[in-house]
Amino acid sequence: MTSDPLLAWRDEFPILASTTYMVSHSLGAMPRRTADSLSEFTATWASRGVRAWHEGWWEMSVTIGDLIGSIIGAVPAEVVMNQNASTGQWVVASCFNWQERRNKIVTEGLNFPSNDYIYHGLARQGARIVTVPSPDGMTLPLEPLLDAIDDETRLVSISHVAFRSSYVQDLSAIIQRAHAVGAYVIADLYQSAGILPVDVRALNLDFAVGGSVKWLLGGPGAGYLYVRRDLWPLLEPAATGWQAHRAPFDFEGGPIEYAPDAFRFLGGTPNIPGLYAARSGFQIINEIGVDAIRAKSIRQTTRLVQLADEAGIAVRSQRDSARRGGVVILDVPEGDRVTAELLRRQVIVDHRPGAGIRISPHFYTADHELEHTIHELSAIIHSTPVP
Ligand SMILES: Cc1ncc(COP(=O)(O)O)c(C=O)c1O
Repeated sequence: MTSDPLLAWRDEFPILASTTYMVSHSLGAMPRRTADSLSEFTATWASRGVRAWHEGWWEMSVTIGDLIGSIIGAVPAEVVMNQNASTGQWVVASCFNWQERRNKIVTEGLNFPSNDYIYHGLARQGARIVTVPSPDGMTLPLEPLLDAIDDETRLVSISHVAFRSSYVQDLSAIIQRAHAVGAYVIADLYQSAGILPVDVRALNLDFAVGGSVKWLLGGPGAGYLYVRRDLWPLLEPAATGWQAHRAPFDFEGGPIEYAPDAFRFLGGTPNIPGLYAARSGFQIINEIGVDAIRAKSIRQTTRLVQLADEAGIAVRSQRDSARRGGVVILDVPEGDRVTAELLRRQVIVDHRPGAGIRISPHFYTADHELEHTIHELSAIIHSTPVP
């Protein structure tokens, strides 16, 4: 029996009392204290009214961003919050002139679709999109990706951890190659931040985006954007708004004069309730520390793989824990039907076509829940479906 100090957190997450919650790669469990945080929002609005803007709301996109910064290795005031990761992608993409010779965007077959939708939209402005395919829909060999990055490449876009397969990409090698030819890298950290260590400064990463919904336990409505500090003066996002202005309350006409700091990457009025909602999850991840979370995640995902092997269920995610993010993917016939039955039995997982059933423990998961998940899964597979 392993002693697991992280289980002390279980009481903080109400949903764990009624379900086996194995889906934090999709929507992290809500912390109890999030309700207090949202009450603070309504109480502030009710009692302070418009004064709230000057008592913290206006800066919240950056002060809450600091809670992400300490998770991903940025220093204070380097991360800004906006509504979602797609918005961050769009802000970055809008900084460049896609008519220039250096107009290639290298993306990859495991990237999140939203990212690719945005890049393909830029083809109308002259961008050339090169997609490095995944040969099996689950992994992405490094060499072809590195080969695709050349001196006509402006931006390389990768998901650090693939949403479909939880495959971990070699961010460091990709960044080194990109920088050697004068290209920038934008990494989607949505499936890595909060579950495996990331250090944007040590990596010398140019741009990072992600959001609050999954491992960071912040609920919907808060995405983040990190931009390497020495790039700030060079970048003027066309996707902008009055919060990005140097002196927004002067209400000057256009063109915009950008703020000298990270505010230049903001847009219009921020999603204040979303930021209140996200705060507690971010604080909890900071309190625990990602190293401890990753150590437990490796131990539990390894155990899940072992249990699946013993039950004769095919494992599609990586067996090498260094290349596996927080999710184990199991290839089960009629995955949709089996997932629906698991949900009916209060075992919460999800299913992605082309991959399989995605199962993820988080720091609040108890070991017996791993056994229970595979036990129920096995029982469903071996039961005769109702005609
Ligand atoms: C890797 C990755 N990127 C992005 C997103 C979502 O982006 P957005 O915040 O724009 O909805 C997800 C959510 O499933 C994801 O897994």
